[in-house]
Amino acid sequence: MDVIVARTREELRKARGEGRVALVPTMGALHEGHRSLIRLAKEHADQVVVSIFVNPLQFGPNEDFSRYPRTFDADLEVCAAEGVGVVFAPSAEEMYPPDRQVSVSAGHMGTIVEGAFRPGHFDGVLTVVLKLFNLVQPDVAVFGQKDAQQLALIRRMVADLDVPVEIVGAPTVREPDGLALSSRNRYLSPQEREIALALSRALRAGEAERAPSAVLAAARAVLERAPLQVDYCVLVDPATFAEVDDSYYGPAVLAVAARVGTTRLIDNVLLEL
Ligand code: PAF
Repeated sequence: MDVIVARTREELRKARGEGRVALVPTMGALHEGHRSLIRLAKEHADQVVVSIFVNPLQFGPNEDFSRYPRTFDADLEVCAAEGVGVVFAPSAEEMYPPDRQVSVSAGHMGTIVEGAFRPGHFDGVLTVVLKLFNLVQPDVAVFGQKDAQQLALIRRMVADLDVPVEIVGAPTVREPDGLALSSRNRYLSPQEREIALALSRALRAGEAERAPSAVLAAARAVLERAPLQVDYCVLVDPATFAEVDDSYYGPAVLAVAARVGTTRLIDNVLLEL
């Protein structure tokens, strides 16, 4: 069956099916990681809606909004091949009325770790995600663990604001050499791609340790040897993103962000301490 492309909320309303609906929110430039989100979404619903919207609200003034890859035709082919029912691809004008005033605040959790380097980013993410939830009215929505703090904040928003959507997290998809799939990988030159492997290598080195301080020391040692600029390498509670110390036991996220040339990459791994 062909994918229905809905550009407006009216078209979306007509295209939305009757049974269980799963939403996979994306900014396009779809890759194998997105395919895995779509496949997981299909397990949870009768109809999958993929949204494709490069959300201006979540980009800072010096970030890559204008150069963010826009590959709509290829994205549509991916969606068709994966059996997606509806692609919702609104314009910025459709999403944001010029007189808009109200937005979602990610609170303290939106200002730490990734949020400390991207002020306002998570407010922008939560605002568009809540709007997408209200427009699509899905039963379930799937997000990648690759954006671990985003996933944690979406879970927090759903709990704090009583949003009636089930949130499913999907494991990160990696290249055979460890590089986490990301739409931003296409910015990397072959040499930069090689350097970028230090992120996943650092996570693997950290994973091999048990105590929080040893996990961090092992990961940071790998990053120090690579010619990249590290924004952070932290070990945090997966639900709150508060940093943990050696007195902590339980699940944790080892998260890293670094710039390789002009490309900023993030990666993380879930571990049990
Ligand atoms: O993860 C992304 O691609 C974006 O942050 C999202 C969730 C689609 C919101 O714009």
